[in-house]
Amino acid sequence: MLLNFNDYRCRARRRLPRIVFDFIDGGADAQECMLHNTQDLSRVMLLPHCLHDVTSVDTTMTLFGQTWKSPVAVAPTGFNGLLRPGADVMLARAAAAAGVPFILSTASNVRLEQVASECSGVKWLQLYVMGSRQIAEGMMRRARQCGYTVLVLTVDVATGGNRERDTRNGMTTPFRPSLRTLLDFGRHPSWALRFVGEGTPKFANVVAPDDASQSPELTAALANRQLDRSVAWESLAWLRKHWEGPILIKGVLHPKDAKRALEAGVNGIIVSNHGGRQLDVVPSTISALPAVLDAVGGAIPVLVDGGFRRGGDVAKALALGAKAVLVGRPVLWGLAAAGEPGVRAVLDTFTTELHRAMTLLGAIRVDDLRDDHVAITRN
Ligand SMILES: Cc1cc2nc3c(=O)[nH]c(=O)nc-3n(C[C@H](O)[C@H](O)[C@H](O)COP(=O)(O)O)c2cc1C
Repeated sequence: MLLNFNDYRCRARRRLPRIVFDFIDGGADAQECMLHNTQDLSRVMLLPHCLHDVTSVDTTMTLFGQTWKSPVAVAPTGFNGLLRPGADVMLARAAAAAGVPFILSTASNVRLEQVASECSGVKWLQLYVMGSRQIAEGMMRRARQCGYTVLVLTVDVATGGNRERDTRNGMTTPFRPSLRTLLDFGRHPSWALRFVGEGTPKFANVVAPDDASQSPELTAALANRQLDRSVAWESLAWLRKHWEGPILIKGVLHPKDAKRALEAGVNGIIVSNHGGRQLDVVPSTISALPAVLDAVGGAIPVLVDGGFRRGGDVAKALALGAKAVLVGRPVLWGLAAAGEPGVRAVLDTFTTELHRAMTLLGAIRVDDLRDDHVAITRN
């Protein structure tokens, strides 16, 4: 029975070849950051307020003029096409059906126009800058034209994290599967057969400005996370010239960076350590969140991701002051385990669990979740 994130994770593990499961599931180095994200969340306790009329609890919230059914968004994840062809569309459609935003990664495998044409919900674009700046400019222009409303600049990938599970599995560019991996593909026929006639997934959105074809250099650079390292605070002015809507920075952990982002005029911050896939020795996001919130003093929304697995976890972030939570791996496990309905079910479970948590906490609206709902943090 698929009741919670762990059920989906276990089924995803069975359904996917090891090289693919490890790619979505893994973290960097010793994977401690990934562990701390969940462990530190479990140390935050919520304290209910009793005897509130909770006949009409409402999980909806509004951000940048758009209403979400629940304060949860699908995090940008690259190379989703490894799970199954068309994965980005399935994630986007499931998010729309669940009433929450979908954030398309620069490293997605379906053209952003196609995702937009198949998904009527709220869509944001996550940006990695690489190669010529014109590539990013082209992507922003295309995204604006087909209804992506918010730009998310990811700032924690100046170089790739050291993911040893991927290295051990031979996840290399260009892909040269070992005999062991090929045999593993054979042991997962329902996964493998979906790719017949499809070939390996391509980075569909990173195209050279002069032609719509893929450049092998860009593809390799993206796969190896060789991004433009000259991107710095000064680059925000360049982004602003090409994106009129809200710009969020994803990957902030330091309160001074949060302050600087505020001064630079960004419209929101996403506290993130990339799900523990980049620098392993950084704080968990739930522990970094309070100082970032203090630094911006409510001037701009602060979102957070990393290790959120239950609606109760979402309630914790909101009680501490976050506006919303992004979820990465849980929706990928849902997709691998049960396709698009699996993603929808994972997202709906977050909403149902949050609704239940709010009902038991005595919070009618998400804004009612406050720091006096946060009780004790146990060691
Ligand atoms: C397989 C995978 C691919 C990812 N690719 C991207 C990406 O392309 N861009 C990005 O900004 N973050 C990427 N992330 C990080 C997520 O956006 C998010 O920060 C992280 O998954 C949140 O942690 P969680 O998986 O514990 O929910 C990726 C994460 C995973 C698991």
